[in-house]
Amino acid sequence: MTEIPEHLLKRSKAARGEKSDSPEPSGEKPKAEPAAQTVEPKTETPKVEVPPKPEAPYVSSANNRKKIPWWAASTLIFLPLWAYVYVGTLERPPEGSEGILAVGEQIYSARCASCHGANGGGGSGPALNDGELLAVFPSVESQLDWVIKGSDIYGAGNTYGDPAAGRVVEGGMPGWGDVLTTEELIGVVLYERSHHAASEEDTALAEAIEHGIEDGSLVLPEYFDSMTGTIEDLELLLSPVKDHSG
Ligand code: HEC
Repeated sequence: MTEIPEHLLKRSKAARGEKSDSPEPSGEKPKAEPAAQTVEPKTETPKVEVPPKPEAPYVSSANNRKKIPWWAASTLIFLPLWAYVYVGTLERPPEGSEGILAVGEQIYSARCASCHGANGGGGSGPALNDGELLAVFPSVESQLDWVIKGSDIYGAGNTYGDPAAGRVVEGGMPGWGDVLTTEELIGVVLYERSHHAASEEDTALAEAIEHGIEDGSLVLPEYFDSMTGTIEDLELLLSPVKDHSG
């Protein structure tokens, strides 16, 4: 072929040398890459070592906060409100509509107030809040017996209650033994005594009767037998709780 001037050969050599040089740096680059990889873990390990020291104070506390999930946190916000409502539901039943005195109050307003007055002040029937009730009926049982039987069974002209009180049957008081349940009758009599006659002893007896019914020490029939029962029968019936209350 034709002669190639040396300066051109030198150029081509130089060009090849550059090309051969360029693969050489590319060959150096993979060398540099593993070198960089070896450098990276070196840079990572110091990075890992460095962060934990700053992480410890606030990142760890942030991690602790993240242990409560967002939904649990939203639930916890309402926990005090729920506790307030829950305690309220626990307190209401004993004070409210379940107690035997509350039953008695309902019975009184429904069955007795029409004749004895809304607050026991009297009407066609005698007043119950004039301070004489506890004198006429010294015991719960004697009043129960009267309310169970009424004027007709006691019989006109006979006395009722403590003879010393001088109550003579005139008529007009219905007997309630076949109408009201045992608990309703005990409730209304104890309501009259604790509410109209302000007898704390009978308020305590109402509590004792409730506890006796709950723990099974006091077993009551559903209805009293208004015809054949006696005051002694009633005393026997209530003796389990009256012995405890004195
Ligand atoms: C229809 C009217 C009437 C109703 C209703 C009535 N009573 Fe009477 N109550 C009387 C009359 C009248 C007497 C007086 C009876 C007599 O002298 O024979 C009386 C007397 C009494 C006495 C005796 C009071 C005293 O000081 O002598 C008591 C206790 C009593 N009632 C309780 C009750 C209870 C409890 C109820 C409801 C369950 C009730 N009464 C419902 C009319 C009523």
